[in-house]
Amino acid sequence: MKKIILVSLVILTLILAASPAVAAEPEKALIIYFDYSENINTEGMDIDAVSQASIAEPERYRDRSNVLVMADMLKERTGAEVYSLHITEPYAPKFEDMVDGAQTDKNENRQFSFSDPLPEWKEYDTIYFLSPIWWYTMPQPVRSFFQQVDLSGKQLAYFSINRGSGNSNILKELAEFQPDMEIFAQYLLSAMIDNEAAQKEFTEYLDTQDWLK
Ligand SMILES: Cc1cc2nc3c(=O)[nH]c(=O)nc-3n(C[C@H](O)[C@H](O)[C@H](O)COP(=O)(O)O)c2cc1C
Repeated sequence: MKKIILVSLVILTLILAASPAVAAEPEKALIIYFDYSENINTEGMDIDAVSQASIAEPERYRDRSNVLVMADMLKERTGAEVYSLHITEPYAPKFEDMVDGAQTDKNENRQFSFSDPLPEWKEYDTIYFLSPIWWYTMPQPVRSFFQQVDLSGKQLAYFSINRGSGNSNILKELAEFQPDMEIFAQYLLSAMIDNEAAQKEFTEYLDTQDWLK
């Protein structure tokens, strides 16, 4: 009897050793961005004025915001899916009308809601987040997003763009809002307005990153 059990065990071991290893699920990534030009109330507006994006900041006359440029670049490099955060109450179309309100929103820690269903987080391991800097940190829609969701166990890279003030608070706030999320990369672009300059600066940064290789 002992001999039969021993032989069976040996056969079982040989079968298991010969069977192909079950492939681990590949890591799946999602790009999320918050872009001002996609969160403006354009009702009743001339569509050309909207596409110029000059509404966002008066001196700008260009096709696209730099956040959109950066999102496209990351998509090209990573092949990740893309999700754009849209708030249910978009901003007033005139820059001067929204800029102070955006500061009040931050000071009062206003909680925004989002018009599209949020992604199914369990499907993703890695999140690449993109946003401008507003009032020295994440725009309040983004701050409230990170306060509302649970990204425990996810790996996050946070990329932002500013006009020189820096982003002193972002890492501290992300750690506070999502204590069980790992931040593996963080970069602040200072390319200002020009799309080509932003593309060049982001390319130079991405080219040095091991997590993309
Ligand atoms: C409401 C608001 C607040 C801003 N606050 C800051 C700031 O504190 N520091 C800064 O450097 N830039 C600030 N900016 C400028 C943005 O960071 C700038 O628009 C950024 O480059 C976004 O790029 P994009 O619109 O080309 O995507 C602010 C812009 C807005 C609309």
